[in-house]
Amino acid sequence: MTELILSLDVLDRKRAVQIAESCAPFIDEIKVGYPLVLSAGLSIVEDLAGLGLPLIADFKVADIPNTNRLICEAVFAAGFDAVIAHGFVGADAARACVEVAHNHSGAAYIVAEMSHPGATEFFHGGVAESLAELAVACRADGIIAPATRPERIARLREIVGEKAIYSPGVGAQGGDPDTVARLVDGVIVGRSIYEAEDPAAEAERFSRIRR
Ligand code: C5P
Repeated sequence: MTELILSLDVLDRKRAVQIAESCAPFIDEIKVGYPLVLSAGLSIVEDLAGLGLPLIADFKVADIPNTNRLICEAVFAAGFDAVIAHGFVGADAARACVEVAHNHSGAAYIVAEMSHPGATEFFHGGVAESLAELAVACRADGIIAPATRPERIARLREIVGEKAIYSPGVGAQGGDPDTVARLVDGVIVGRSIYEAEDPAAEAERFSRIRR
């Protein structure tokens, strides 16, 4: 089944919890990043944990191995179930994230290619492919690949095989949910849901990709 993952980039704590609660029946996981954690505090995890959905920390961790380890320990101690890390810092640094995640029975995903237009400046020309290979070598649970470029997802799938591909960039960034859903394990949707007049109705609409 292709999962629907809500990217909860909402700044107000109460609104974030309301949106998450109303969308919960239609989504499989919630992704929380810097916008919400820096606005509402790390304890937002406690508010969301009650929904019973896995929580992904999108902190795109990108430091030396020891710092990555310290960050990821804090992520899992806070109650997250998975973490997103960058791979460009090297295999040792990425592996530190994977090891901490697995020690906590959690998951770690490596960014292979980002979804915005500027991503082509650095991720193309073989870099994304190398990052996907690094994710496999580090025993990461999967990669992040751009819904805005389905042909790139298909290329990266050749490298990661059965590993999970989670893909942001549908809706607000222009990616087509149905096209992408056929290629990936999880579609990540933010603004199209949380900025909608009725986020739950929009989540239900997107949930038709779950098959
Ligand atoms: O609002 P929208 O649906 O564009 O949100 C996409 C989410 O996925 C944001 O949290 C963004 O930071 C994140 N993301 C992305 N592209 C990546 C990795 C993460 O858009 N490659």
